[in-house]
Amino acid sequence: MISIAIDGPAGAGKSTIAKRLSAEFGFIYVDTGALYRAVGLYALRQGLTQLNAQTVPPLLPQITVKLKFVDGLQRVFLNDQDVSEAIRQNEVSMAASDVSAIPAVREFLFELQRNIAKENNIVMDGRDIGTVVLPNADVKIFLTASPEVRARRRHLELLEKGQSVDFQQLLEEIKTRDHNDSTRAVAPLKQAEDAVLVDSSDLTLEEAVSAAADTVRRVLHQKGKRL
Ligand code: DC
Repeated sequence: MISIAIDGPAGAGKSTIAKRLSAEFGFIYVDTGALYRAVGLYALRQGLTQLNAQTVPPLLPQITVKLKFVDGLQRVFLNDQDVSEAIRQNEVSMAASDVSAIPAVREFLFELQRNIAKENNIVMDGRDIGTVVLPNADVKIFLTASPEVRARRRHLELLEKGQSVDFQQLLEEIKTRDHNDSTRAVAPLKQAEDAVLVDSSDLTLEEAVSAAADTVRRVLHQKGKRL
């Protein structure tokens, strides 16, 4: 099996690029952020306002998260209900960031991620894929962009979905999430030593996709692995 790990901060274009790579190489695309979002959504639906190591772990036994792949695209099921759209709401982003800092939540979702990678050729994106989940991934890419560029992209994305959110507010949220994700004690967001850095701040989407695809081909070639 071949695994491609793509890590980086929110809004750097990981999911768009991972989807394009998976389509190009015929791999399954696994969006691990969706798993943390599903747990965050469940906690919000239970009416929790404080999501922390005291309040969230007692909920975990009530939760089943499953991923299904339809035409290579991931659907997320929370207790057998398809929540693939519900987890994209803006308030779920912060809830996901909060629950992702809780060690019990990370443990809860760990095996699921590992098992998918054991059985499939995958492009998996997240924050700790190259460092913790798949430390032996064949290719590791750390995809980043400046906070301003990421906020601008997210703003446009939400506008296209008909959700209007203040740009400054988005920028602040992105900076807060970056801080939360990279300073947490467990599996913080950081570039793996053997990851290739791709900074998409000054790249168009097509340029970023090419840079990532070239990296995959080059690294696999160096390792003598064939696509
Ligand atoms: O990629 P995303 O925005 O959907 O991720 C939602 C949150 O989940 C993000 O704030 C950090 C967390 N996350 C994580 O801690 N580890 C991962 N592998 C993926 C996401």
